[in-house]
Amino acid sequence: MDRNHLFDGLSGKYLFQEVKLRVDLFRQFHNEKRCIFLGIGDTTQPLCNSISQAIIQTGDDLATAHGYRGYGPEQGIIELRSAIQKKLYQSMPHISEEDIFISDGAKCDIQRMHLLCGEKLFVAVQDPSYPAYKDSSLLLRKKIPLSLPIFSKEKQHLDIDLNSLPNGSLIFLCHPNNPTGTLFSREQLSSFIKIATQKEHIIIFDVAYRDYIEGDHLRSIYEISGADEVAIEIGSFSKSAGLSGIRLGWSIVPKKLRYSDGTSIQSDYLRLIGTTFNGASYISQQAGIAALSDIGRKESLEQVQVYKENIKILKAAFHGKKAKVFGGSHAPYLWIATHFKKSWEAFDYFLHSAYIVTTPGIGFGEAGEGFLRLSGFSSKDDAIEASERIAALDI
Ligand code: MLT
Repeated sequence: MDRNHLFDGLSGKYLFQEVKLRVDLFRQFHNEKRCIFLGIGDTTQPLCNSISQAIIQTGDDLATAHGYRGYGPEQGIIELRSAIQKKLYQSMPHISEEDIFISDGAKCDIQRMHLLCGEKLFVAVQDPSYPAYKDSSLLLRKKIPLSLPIFSKEKQHLDIDLNSLPNGSLIFLCHPNNPTGTLFSREQLSSFIKIATQKEHIIIFDVAYRDYIEGDHLRSIYEISGADEVAIEIGSFSKSAGLSGIRLGWSIVPKKLRYSDGTSIQSDYLRLIGTTFNGASYISQQAGIAALSDIGRKESLEQVQVYKENIKILKAAFHGKKAKVFGGSHAPYLWIATHFKKSWEAFDYFLHSAYIVTTPGIGFGEAGEGFLRLSGFSSKDDAIEASERIAALDI
C-alpha cells in the first residue's frame, strides 16, 4: 500500500507519546527516586460514586430484554442533550437540544470539524495550542494551519489578531486556555465574534476546562450575542467528571450557523456523523447523565476542586523564583517562562533535578519555546511533594 505522506509533516511522535518515551528511558537508568507526573492533563481521581453506580446499573439494564439498546441515535440520547442544555446552557435559551451533538470526546470532534470545510479554506490555530488542532489539520486538510501567536514572554497575556486572517477561515481557540492556563476576556471574545461575523470566519471554541473557571468569567461563547452565527463549541466530560477513559463529549453546532453559500452547517454535521459515527457509547452517555444530576455535579465539582487546589499549591512553590508563572486560577495548568532558551532543556532540568515530569512548551507550537507546562492532575500528596522539590530548584 502506498503510504500517506502527510505523516511526514507530523513530528515523529505525538507530544505526549514523546514525553512518555523520554520519561520511560530516564526511569530505566534512574530509579532511585519516585517520579511525580505533572505532564499530560489526565484526571487521576477514581470515578465518583454517582457515575460508577450509573455505569453498573446501565450494564445490568442492558442485560434485560426491556433495557437492551443497540445503535445510537447518532446525535446522542435526548436525555443527555437535554441535561447538557439545562445544566450548562440554562442561561442561553437560543442553544437548544437540537444544536447539541454528543460525541466520544473532544479530540474526536476536533477531527470531524475539519471535514466540514471546503478545500480552499484556511485553518488557523492558536500558538501555543493543544497539538491535536494542528496535527489533525495537517492530516485532514493537507496543509499546515496558519499560526496565531497568542502569548509571548514580552506580552504576558492572551492576545490574538483575527483581522490578519484571510476571509472565511476556520479558527481554533481554547478557553480556559490550554496550555497557558489563562482566559480570554469578555471584551476580547466579543471583538472576535464581531470580526468573525464581518469576515465570515467560523470559530471552533474548545471549552474542555470550563468547570475550572472561577467567578463571573465567560463559560460559553454563546454568552456573547451573535456567537451562534459564527461559532461551534466543543465540550468534554474528561476534565470535569473524570470520563477521560470512558470517553464522552459534545459539540454545539447551532442552527443559525451557515456556510458562505447560505446552506446549513448543522445539516451537514448531522449528515457527517450519520456516515462516520454510530453515536457515543450508551454506557458513557448514562455516565454523562449521572455526572449532570445534582449529586453527580456536586461530586464531580469536588474533584475539580482538588485539581484546582493542587495547581495553587504548585504555583506557590514558584514564589520568589526568577521564573514567571502564568495560569493556575481558572485552569489546571501553570505556564512557566523559564530562563532556559529551549523547553526541552527545561523539561530535562525538572526531570533530572527534581524527578518531576512536565510538558515542554515547544510541544504546543513555536510560540511555546522556552516555556514549560505543569498540570495539577495529580494527588494532593504529589502536588505537595512536587512543590517541595520545586522550591529547591534554581529557576
Ligand atoms: C493535555 O493538554 O494534556 C491534553 O488535554 C490531554 C488530552 O486531553 O489529550
